[in-house]
Amino acid sequence: LSDRERVLLTPGPLSTSRAVREAMLRDLGSRDVEFLAITARVRERLLALAGAEASHACVPLQGSGTFAVEAAIGTLVPADGQLLVASNGAYGRRMAAIAGRLGRPCSLLELPETSPVDPEAVARALAGPRPPSHLAVVHCETSTGIRNPLEAVAAVAARARVPLLVDAMSTFGALPVDARRTPFTALVASANKCLQGVPGVGFALVERTALAAARGRAPSLALDLFDQHEGFERTGQWRFTPPTHVVAALARALDELEAEGGVAARGRRYAESCRVLVAGMRKLGFETLLPDALQAPIIVTFLAPADPRFVFDAFYDGLRRRGFVIYPGKLSETPSFRIGCIGDVSSSDLERAVAAVAETLGELGVSSPGTS
Ligand SMILES: Cc1ncc(COP(=O)(O)O)c(C=O)c1O
Repeated sequence: LSDRERVLLTPGPLSTSRAVREAMLRDLGSRDVEFLAITARVRERLLALAGAEASHACVPLQGSGTFAVEAAIGTLVPADGQLLVASNGAYGRRMAAIAGRLGRPCSLLELPETSPVDPEAVARALAGPRPPSHLAVVHCETSTGIRNPLEAVAAVAARARVPLLVDAMSTFGALPVDARRTPFTALVASANKCLQGVPGVGFALVERTALAAARGRAPSLALDLFDQHEGFERTGQWRFTPPTHVVAALARALDELEAEGGVAARGRRYAESCRVLVAGMRKLGFETLLPDALQAPIIVTFLAPADPRFVFDAFYDGLRRRGFVIYPGKLSETPSFRIGCIGDVSSSDLERAVAAVAETLGELGVSSPGTS
């Protein structure tokens, strides 16, 4: 099999570099001094990426990103608190579902999937007679690809003195965030999106003061960020079996992020890939769900063509045979599919992907991919 048999144009797991995969070829013990040093350094570097060294702690957690989101909500929102989720998609709704499962009172400030979260509406909700104890927002709703105005929402939350929890799962490492200018209480992300590591670990950057106040609060033993953090601080070790290979791969991925020129350079590469993808697909006749001004350079939602010969599974299969893996849509109403721009992927990969789309349409007999 070739090294890059298929390009993953998905929101994670995504295409990783050979060096990142090779970083996993060693077995390191959980108490190995080298592994503990790798863990400590990764924690420092993740904080530094957000300008949060002075104010926050980085708490990595085994599992996918959702585990870290659940841990952050359970650890930071008290049982007598009230979480408000400003939501415009599936990942916002998921945060509310998590709060519900954990028995944390929660309400949704829900917007249509094609409208960015509105900071003024959030400000009104925070100024109501019974303001929430915590606010949560998703930076890029990967379900559509829309970019939410994190900086403006954070400013509103700070003005109202309401702690903000950010799901930056699909943006961290590609869209800049700086805790000194964009105040947040917790920001959650994972290894296998814009950091270009492999799946298996998430992390939360949590304000030290908020973490210190959270002893004994989490309703879960494994998903307790206070205990997890205390473990790292006391012994440098993970509380439970660490994902050693995944952490080694993340360390290598962080080297590559730095070598690329950091978050700004990575964001530029993704933006160029996104531009090439959207231009090519529009030329074929596809329509994007979002106008360009609302689109994050992470993943693009295309509307499914009206032609009944367009069947997603056959389209997916045709692209897979040509070396590209795409993603189904995640809209509540409109049929759609998504193509990602993130990962160890270049704009020329996206050019080839568009050519593969054209070929696959020919195979399906779809001559015009418009929606009407
Ligand atoms: C914004 C956002 N939040 C949460 C998640 C959930 O992460 P995971 O699938 O790793 O649990 C994702 C995954 O794509 C995401 O894009």
